[in-house]
Amino acid sequence: MQQKIDEILNYVKGKMAEVKTSADCQAVRVEVLGKSGKLTELFKLMKDVPAEQKGAVGQLLNGAKQAAESIIAEKETSLAAAELQQKLMSEKIDVTLDLNAEEIGALHPVTLDFMRMCDILTGMGFSQIDGPEIELDKYNFELVNVPKDHPSRDMQDSLYITNDILLRTQTSNTQPRAMEKIKPPFKVFSFGRVFRKDDLDATHTPAFHQLEGIYIDKKVSLATLKHDLSLILKKYLGDATKIKFRASYFPFTEPSVEVDAECNVCKGKGCAACNGNGQYEILGAGMIHPHVLELNGIDPNEFSGYAFGFGFDRFPKIRYKIPNAKVMFSNDVRFIKQFK
Ligand code: DAH
Repeated sequence: MQQKIDEILNYVKGKMAEVKTSADCQAVRVEVLGKSGKLTELFKLMKDVPAEQKGAVGQLLNGAKQAAESIIAEKETSLAAAELQQKLMSEKIDVTLDLNAEEIGALHPVTLDFMRMCDILTGMGFSQIDGPEIELDKYNFELVNVPKDHPSRDMQDSLYITNDILLRTQTSNTQPRAMEKIKPPFKVFSFGRVFRKDDLDATHTPAFHQLEGIYIDKKVSLATLKHDLSLILKKYLGDATKIKFRASYFPFTEPSVEVDAECNVCKGKGCAACNGNGQYEILGAGMIHPHVLELNGIDPNEFSGYAFGFGFDRFPKIRYKIPNAKVMFSNDVRFIKQFK
Protein backbone atom coordinates (compact mmCIF):
# COMPACT_ATOMS: atom_id res chain seq x y z
CA MET A 1 0.00 0.00 0.00
CA GLN A 2 2.75 2.42 0.99
CA GLN A 3 4.47 1.71 -2.28
CA LYS A 4 1.31 2.46 -4.27
CA ILE A 5 0.81 5.68 -2.32
CA ASP A 6 4.40 6.75 -2.98
CA GLU A 7 3.91 6.05 -6.67
CA ILE A 8 0.81 8.19 -6.79
CA LEU A 9 2.39 11.06 -4.86
CA ASN A 10 5.42 10.93 -7.15
CA TYR A 11 3.09 10.95 -10.11
CA VAL A 12 1.36 14.05 -8.74
CA LYS A 13 4.68 15.81 -8.12
CA GLY A 14 5.86 14.93 -11.62
CA LYS A 15 2.65 16.28 -13.14
CA MET A 16 2.87 19.49 -11.11
CA ALA A 17 6.34 20.11 -12.54
CA GLU A 18 4.86 19.95 -16.04
CA VAL A 19 1.50 21.73 -15.82
CA LYS A 20 1.17 25.18 -17.35
CA THR A 21 -2.30 26.39 -16.23
CA SER A 22 -4.55 26.22 -13.18
CA ALA A 23 -7.04 24.28 -15.32
CA ASP A 24 -4.35 21.58 -15.83
CA CYS A 25 -4.04 21.34 -12.01
CA GLN A 26 -7.76 20.75 -11.73
CA ALA A 27 -7.51 17.97 -14.33
CA VAL A 28 -4.80 16.23 -12.27
CA ARG A 29 -6.94 16.67 -9.13
CA VAL A 30 -9.80 14.86 -10.87
CA GLU A 31 -7.42 12.20 -12.17
CA VAL A 32 -6.09 11.45 -8.69
CA LEU A 33 -8.78 12.49 -6.20
CA GLY A 34 -11.93 12.40 -8.34
CA LYS A 35 -14.67 9.77 -8.12
CA SER A 36 -12.59 7.10 -9.88
CA GLY A 37 -9.23 8.76 -9.30
CA LYS A 38 -6.03 6.79 -8.67
CA LEU A 39 -6.05 7.51 -4.94
CA THR A 40 -9.81 7.15 -4.58
CA GLU A 41 -9.44 3.62 -6.01
CA LEU A 42 -7.07 2.76 -3.13
CA PHE A 43 -9.75 3.86 -0.62
CA LYS A 44 -12.07 1.31 -2.22
CA LEU A 45 -9.60 -1.47 -1.16
CA MET A 46 -10.26 -0.64 2.50
CA LYS A 47 -13.08 -3.13 2.60
CA ASP A 48 -10.57 -6.01 2.15
CA VAL A 49 -8.13 -4.78 4.83
CA PRO A 50 -8.27 -6.89 8.01
CA ALA A 51 -10.10 -5.13 10.84
CA GLU A 52 -7.01 -4.70 13.07
CA GLN A 53 -5.14 -2.87 10.26
CA LYS A 54 -8.02 -0.67 9.08
CA GLY A 55 -7.05 2.21 11.44
CA ALA A 56 -3.44 2.36 10.30
CA VAL A 57 -4.23 1.97 6.59
CA GLY A 58 -7.00 4.57 6.87
CA GLN A 59 -4.58 7.05 8.39
CA LEU A 60 -2.05 6.34 5.68
CA LEU A 61 -4.61 6.94 2.94
CA ASN A 62 -6.01 10.12 4.49
CA GLY A 63 -2.47 11.46 4.92
CA ALA A 64 -1.79 10.69 1.26
CA LYS A 65 -5.00 12.40 0.19
CA GLN A 66 -4.06 15.55 2.11
CA ALA A 67 -0.52 15.48 0.74
CA ALA A 68 -1.76 15.13 -2.86
CA GLU A 69 -4.28 17.95 -2.38
CA SER A 70 -1.73 20.33 -0.91
CA ILE A 71 0.82 19.66 -3.68
CA ILE A 72 -1.84 20.39 -6.30
CA ALA A 73 -3.26 23.41 -4.44
CA GLU A 74 0.15 25.03 -4.03
CA LYS A 75 0.91 24.87 -7.74
CA GLU A 76 -2.65 25.86 -8.64
CA THR A 77 -2.56 29.00 -6.43
CA SER A 78 0.69 30.25 -7.90
CA LEU A 79 -0.51 29.59 -11.48
CA ALA A 80 -3.86 31.34 -10.79
CA ALA A 81 -2.07 34.41 -9.44
CA ALA A 82 0.11 34.56 -12.54
CA GLU A 83 -2.94 34.14 -14.77
CA LEU A 84 -4.74 37.01 -12.99
CA GLN A 85 -1.69 39.23 -13.38
CA GLN A 86 -1.56 38.37 -17.06
CA LYS A 87 -5.26 39.21 -17.46
CA LEU A 88 -4.89 42.55 -15.67
CA MET A 89 -1.93 43.46 -17.86
CA SER A 90 -3.82 42.64 -21.04
CA GLU A 91 -6.93 44.61 -19.94
CA LYS A 92 -5.03 47.78 -19.11
CA ILE A 93 -7.16 50.96 -19.66
CA ASP A 94 -5.51 53.66 -21.69
CA VAL A 95 -6.55 56.87 -19.91
CA THR A 96 -4.80 58.98 -22.53
CA LEU A 97 -7.12 57.74 -25.25
CA ASP A 98 -8.90 60.61 -27.08
CA LEU A 99 -12.64 60.88 -26.36
CA ASN A 100 -14.80 61.30 -29.39
CA ALA A 101 -15.89 64.94 -28.98
CA GLU A 102 -19.12 64.11 -30.84
CA GLU A 103 -20.31 62.30 -27.74
CA ILE A 104 -20.11 65.32 -25.44
CA GLY A 105 -23.59 66.74 -24.86
CA ALA A 106 -24.87 70.24 -25.58
CA LEU A 107 -26.91 72.66 -23.49
CA HIS A 108 -30.53 73.23 -24.45
CA PRO A 109 -31.19 76.65 -26.07
CA VAL A 110 -33.54 77.55 -23.19
CA THR A 111 -30.74 76.81 -20.72
CA LEU A 112 -28.26 78.81 -22.81
CA ASP A 113 -30.56 81.82 -22.87
CA PHE A 114 -31.42 81.50 -19.21
CA MET A 115 -27.69 81.55 -18.38
CA ARG A 116 -27.40 84.89 -20.20
CA MET A 117 -30.39 86.27 -18.31
CA CYS A 118 -29.00 84.88 -15.05
CA ASP A 119 -25.78 86.86 -15.57
CA ILE A 120 -27.74 90.07 -16.19
CA LEU A 121 -29.98 89.67 -13.14
CA THR A 122 -27.26 88.64 -10.71
CA GLY A 123 -25.20 91.57 -12.02
CA MET A 124 -28.08 93.83 -10.92
CA GLY A 125 -28.20 92.42 -7.41
CA PHE A 126 -30.89 89.75 -7.81
CA SER A 127 -30.40 86.33 -6.17
CA GLN A 128 -31.92 83.16 -7.54
CA ILE A 129 -34.59 81.27 -5.60
CA ASP A 130 -36.57 78.16 -6.45
CA GLY A 131 -40.19 77.12 -6.08
CA PRO A 132 -41.94 73.75 -6.42
CA GLU A 133 -43.54 72.64 -9.69
CA ILE A 134 -46.16 70.64 -7.78
CA GLU A 135 -47.74 73.39 -5.76
CA LEU A 136 -50.47 74.14 -3.27
CA ASP A 137 -53.38 76.18 -4.63
CA LYS A 138 -52.62 78.59 -1.76
CA TYR A 139 -49.25 79.68 -3.20
CA ASN A 140 -50.20 79.47 -6.88
CA PHE A 141 -53.41 81.49 -6.50
CA GLU A 142 -54.75 82.52 -3.13
CA LEU A 143 -51.74 84.33 -1.70
CA VAL A 144 -51.28 86.27 -4.96
CA ASN A 145 -54.77 87.68 -4.64
CA VAL A 146 -56.61 85.13 -6.75
CA PRO A 147 -59.26 83.69 -4.41
CA LYS A 148 -61.27 80.60 -5.33
CA ASP A 149 -64.13 82.50 -7.03
CA HIS A 150 -61.92 84.98 -8.91
CA PRO A 151 -62.83 85.24 -12.62
CA SER A 152 -59.17 85.20 -13.70
CA ARG A 153 -58.82 81.68 -12.33
CA ASP A 154 -59.70 79.64 -15.36
CA MET A 155 -60.18 76.09 -14.13
CA GLN A 156 -59.90 74.83 -17.68
CA ASP A 157 -56.29 75.95 -17.84
CA SER A 158 -54.94 74.45 -14.62
CA LEU A 159 -53.83 70.89 -14.10
CA TYR A 160 -55.11 69.91 -10.67
CA ILE A 161 -53.88 66.80 -8.85
CA THR A 162 -56.28 67.16 -5.92
CA ASN A 163 -58.58 70.02 -4.90
CA ASP A 164 -55.67 71.79 -3.23
CA ILE A 165 -52.68 70.64 -5.26
CA LEU A 166 -51.89 71.49 -8.87
CA LEU A 167 -49.00 71.76 -11.29
CA ARG A 168 -48.08 75.43 -10.94
CA THR A 169 -49.50 77.57 -13.71
CA GLN A 170 -47.05 80.42 -13.12
CA THR A 171 -43.73 81.14 -11.42
CA SER A 172 -45.65 83.81 -9.48
CA ASN A 173 -46.02 81.06 -6.86
CA THR A 174 -42.49 82.08 -5.80
CA GLN A 175 -43.78 85.51 -4.72
CA PRO A 176 -45.55 84.28 -1.56
CA ARG A 177 -42.89 81.63 -1.07
CA ALA A 178 -40.18 84.30 -1.06
CA MET A 179 -42.16 86.59 1.24
CA GLU A 180 -42.72 83.69 3.63
CA LYS A 181 -39.00 82.92 3.90
CA ILE A 182 -37.12 86.19 3.40
CA LYS A 183 -37.52 89.44 5.30
CA PRO A 184 -37.60 92.54 3.05
CA PRO A 185 -35.71 94.25 1.58
CA PHE A 186 -34.95 91.56 -1.02
CA LYS A 187 -34.40 91.26 -4.74
CA VAL A 188 -34.88 87.74 -6.15
CA PHE A 189 -35.69 85.90 -9.34
CA SER A 190 -36.88 82.42 -10.07
CA PHE A 191 -36.88 80.37 -13.23
CA GLY A 192 -38.61 77.13 -14.07
CA ARG A 193 -41.34 75.13 -15.72
CA VAL A 194 -45.03 75.94 -15.49
CA PHE A 195 -47.93 73.86 -16.75
CA ARG A 196 -51.23 74.55 -18.46
CA LYS A 197 -53.81 72.48 -20.27
CA ASP A 198 -52.63 73.51 -23.72
CA ASP A 199 -52.50 71.30 -26.76
CA LEU A 200 -49.12 70.95 -28.38
CA ASP A 201 -48.81 73.03 -31.56
CA ALA A 202 -46.31 75.37 -33.25
CA THR A 203 -46.68 78.05 -30.57
CA HIS A 204 -48.05 76.21 -27.52
CA THR A 205 -46.62 73.56 -25.22
CA PRO A 206 -48.39 72.23 -22.11
CA ALA A 207 -45.16 72.77 -20.16
CA PHE A 208 -43.14 75.92 -20.70
CA HIS A 209 -40.66 78.13 -18.88
CA GLN A 210 -41.23 81.34 -17.01
CA LEU A 211 -38.95 83.72 -15.22
CA GLU A 212 -40.21 85.76 -12.29
CA GLY A 213 -38.51 88.79 -10.72
CA ILE A 214 -39.43 90.32 -7.37
CA TYR A 215 -38.01 93.39 -5.64
CA ILE A 216 -39.38 94.56 -2.28
CA ASP A 217 -37.90 97.49 -0.40
CA LYS A 218 -38.81 100.86 1.03
CA LYS A 219 -39.72 103.34 -1.73
CA VAL A 220 -39.79 100.94 -4.70
CA SER A 221 -41.94 102.70 -7.30
CA LEU A 222 -43.24 102.27 -10.82
CA ALA A 223 -40.26 104.40 -11.90
CA THR A 224 -37.91 101.82 -10.31
CA LEU A 225 -39.73 99.06 -12.19
CA LYS A 226 -39.54 100.90 -15.50
CA HIS A 227 -35.87 101.69 -15.03
CA ASP A 228 -34.85 98.18 -13.99
CA LEU A 229 -36.91 96.39 -16.64
CA SER A 230 -35.65 98.69 -19.41
CA LEU A 231 -32.09 97.95 -18.35
CA ILE A 232 -32.67 94.18 -18.16
CA LEU A 233 -34.37 94.09 -21.56
CA LYS A 234 -31.79 96.28 -23.31
CA LYS A 235 -29.00 94.09 -21.98
CA TYR A 236 -30.86 90.94 -22.91
CA LEU A 237 -32.34 91.87 -26.30
CA GLY A 238 -29.70 94.38 -27.39
CA ASP A 239 -29.35 98.15 -26.82
CA ALA A 240 -31.11 99.05 -30.05
CA THR A 241 -34.29 97.08 -29.28
CA LYS A 242 -37.28 99.38 -28.83
CA ILE A 243 -39.57 98.50 -25.91
CA LYS A 244 -42.94 99.90 -24.94
CA PHE A 245 -44.79 99.87 -21.61
CA ARG A 246 -48.58 99.83 -21.67
CA ALA A 247 -51.20 99.64 -18.94
CA SER A 248 -52.64 96.21 -18.20
CA TYR A 249 -54.33 94.18 -15.48
CA PHE A 250 -53.12 91.36 -13.24
CA PRO A 251 -54.77 90.46 -9.93
CA PHE A 252 -51.45 90.51 -8.06
CA THR A 253 -50.22 93.93 -9.22
CA GLU A 254 -51.61 97.47 -9.06
CA PRO A 255 -50.87 99.28 -11.27
CA SER A 256 -50.05 96.58 -13.84
CA VAL A 257 -48.15 96.90 -17.09
CA GLU A 258 -47.25 94.80 -20.07
CA VAL A 259 -44.12 95.28 -22.12
CA ASP A 260 -43.90 94.91 -25.89
CA ALA A 261 -40.60 94.69 -27.71
CA GLU A 262 -39.87 95.41 -31.32
CA CYS A 263 -39.27 92.17 -33.20
CA ASN A 264 -35.51 91.72 -33.43
CA VAL A 265 -35.84 89.53 -36.51
CA CYS A 266 -37.63 92.03 -38.82
CA LYS A 267 -36.89 95.23 -36.83
CA GLY A 268 -40.56 96.19 -36.68
CA LYS A 269 -41.53 95.44 -40.27
CA GLY A 270 -43.53 92.31 -39.52
CA CYS A 271 -42.37 88.73 -40.16
CA ALA A 272 -43.21 85.12 -39.35
CA ALA A 273 -41.43 85.24 -35.96
CA CYS A 274 -43.72 88.04 -34.70
CA ASN A 275 -46.85 86.91 -36.59
CA GLY A 276 -46.57 89.98 -38.77
CA ASN A 277 -47.01 92.41 -35.86
CA GLY A 278 -43.50 93.89 -35.93
CA GLN A 279 -43.50 93.60 -32.16
CA TYR A 280 -44.41 91.03 -29.56
CA GLU A 281 -45.61 91.05 -26.01
CA ILE A 282 -42.84 89.85 -23.73
CA LEU A 283 -43.85 90.19 -20.13
CA GLY A 284 -46.32 91.18 -17.48
CA ALA A 285 -45.32 93.28 -14.50
CA GLY A 286 -46.50 95.79 -11.96
CA MET A 287 -46.33 97.08 -8.42
CA ILE A 288 -47.12 94.24 -6.03
CA HIS A 289 -50.70 94.76 -4.85
CA PRO A 290 -50.76 96.09 -1.24
CA HIS A 291 -53.21 93.31 -0.44
CA VAL A 292 -50.67 90.69 -1.62
CA LEU A 293 -48.04 92.21 0.68
CA GLU A 294 -50.56 92.12 3.52
CA LEU A 295 -51.63 88.53 2.81
CA ASN A 296 -47.97 87.56 3.09
CA GLY A 297 -47.22 89.38 6.32
CA ILE A 298 -45.52 92.49 4.91
CA ASP A 299 -46.75 95.94 5.95
CA PRO A 300 -47.69 97.86 2.77
CA ASN A 301 -47.25 101.16 4.64
CA GLU A 302 -43.61 100.36 5.19
CA PHE A 303 -42.68 98.42 2.05
CA SER A 304 -43.55 98.42 -1.62
CA GLY A 305 -42.36 96.17 -4.40
CA TYR A 306 -42.49 95.28 -8.03
CA ALA A 307 -42.82 91.92 -9.78
CA PHE A 308 -42.45 90.82 -13.36
CA GLY A 309 -43.03 87.56 -15.20
CA PHE A 310 -41.76 86.40 -18.59
CA GLY A 311 -42.78 83.50 -20.73
CA PHE A 312 -39.20 82.54 -21.45
CA ASP A 313 -39.20 80.05 -24.35
CA ARG A 314 -39.97 82.65 -26.98
CA PHE A 315 -36.51 84.24 -26.72
CA PRO A 316 -34.41 81.21 -27.68
CA LYS A 317 -37.07 80.38 -30.26
CA ILE A 318 -36.48 83.74 -31.94
CA ARG A 319 -32.74 83.94 -31.30
CA TYR A 320 -32.04 80.54 -32.82
CA LYS A 321 -34.83 80.79 -35.42
CA ILE A 322 -36.58 77.64 -34.19
CA PRO A 323 -39.67 77.32 -36.39
CA ASN A 324 -41.77 75.13 -34.11
CA ALA A 325 -42.06 75.08 -30.30
CA LYS A 326 -42.68 71.33 -30.48
CA VAL A 327 -39.10 70.46 -31.44
CA MET A 328 -37.73 72.39 -28.46
CA PHE A 329 -39.10 69.78 -26.09
CA SER A 330 -39.06 66.72 -28.33
CA ASN A 331 -35.98 65.15 -26.67
CA ASP A 332 -34.52 64.62 -30.12
CA VAL A 333 -30.71 64.65 -29.82
CA ARG A 334 -30.38 65.87 -33.40
CA PHE A 335 -32.03 69.10 -32.26
CA ILE A 336 -29.78 69.53 -29.21
CA LYS A 337 -26.60 68.70 -31.14
CA GLN A 338 -27.02 71.91 -33.15
CA PHE A 339 -26.29 74.00 -30.05
CA LYS A 340 -22.76 72.79 -29.35
N1 DAH B 1 -47.91 85.20 -13.77
C1 DAH B 1 -48.31 85.93 -14.97
C2 DAH B 1 -48.69 84.91 -16.06
O1 DAH B 1 -48.40 83.76 -15.92
C3 DAH B 1 -47.18 86.80 -15.45
C4 DAH B 1 -46.96 87.94 -14.52
C5 DAH B 1 -47.65 89.12 -14.71
C6 DAH B 1 -46.06 87.85 -13.47
C7 DAH B 1 -47.46 90.20 -13.86
C8 DAH B 1 -45.86 88.93 -12.61
C9 DAH B 1 -46.56 90.11 -12.83
O2 DAH B 1 -45.00 88.88 -11.59
O3 DAH B 1 -46.35 91.15 -12.02
O4 DAH B 1 -49.28 85.29 -17.01
